[in-house]
Amino acid sequence: MNRGLFITLEGVDGAGKSTHLEWLSEQFRAHGRTVRATREPGGTPLGERLRDLLLNSPMHAETEALLIFAARREHLARVIQPALEAGEVVISDRFTDASFAYQCGGRGMPEARVETLESWVQAGLQPDLTLLFDVTREVAEARRSAVRDPDRFEQERADFHERVRQAYLRRASRYPQRIKVIDANQSVEHVRRQLLTLLEPLL
Ligand code: TYD
Repeated sequence: MNRGLFITLEGVDGAGKSTHLEWLSEQFRAHGRTVRATREPGGTPLGERLRDLLLNSPMHAETEALLIFAARREHLARVIQPALEAGEVVISDRFTDASFAYQCGGRGMPEARVETLESWVQAGLQPDLTLLFDVTREVAEARRSAVRDPDRFEQERADFHERVRQAYLRRASRYPQRIKVIDANQSVEHVRRQLLTLLEPLL
């Protein structure tokens, strides 16, 4: 099977990962690859409806986790797996590391719960590369305060976001081969240089 490449982008709200998604896609397209840029929660018509609920409707923390994994199951079955089987490059703005960071780190859910959902929904599939856009608490707060209409996650207090950040960094030290930490406090140009160094072997 000619399996493609699965790349995920992660980081706290305000880390700037979405800014880099289109540019990353262009780097692969310039090398003749077909790129499927997508996002979570979302990425399918049903997933986008679940995203709207997740970002705007108050709910129990476990309901939140279950809806995120329901959207993820749909995303994997309808978008990610078919694209990888067709040899495409899939770049997803967030994936399961976000569940460990937000639901476990941020909301305090035991990791074992998310691990159970992960093994059910992903059946062993993991990203080939995860780019973790890391910013200090101050930079993230400044970027978030520029958002006009904050969603349920963006409305959380600064200590929630700091717990999310620390949970991401713990994942990165646990999976150093897969998760690469990008210093995203710097200018867009500087971040792109770091990304190119990491991507070169894959292009
Ligand atoms: P985000 O990706 O930051 O989108 P935007 O840039 O449009 O605000 O928003 C998605 C939110 O969903 C983000 O605040 C984190 C949350 N989330 C989780 O809590 N768990 C998850 O597993 C995923 C994928 C996202």
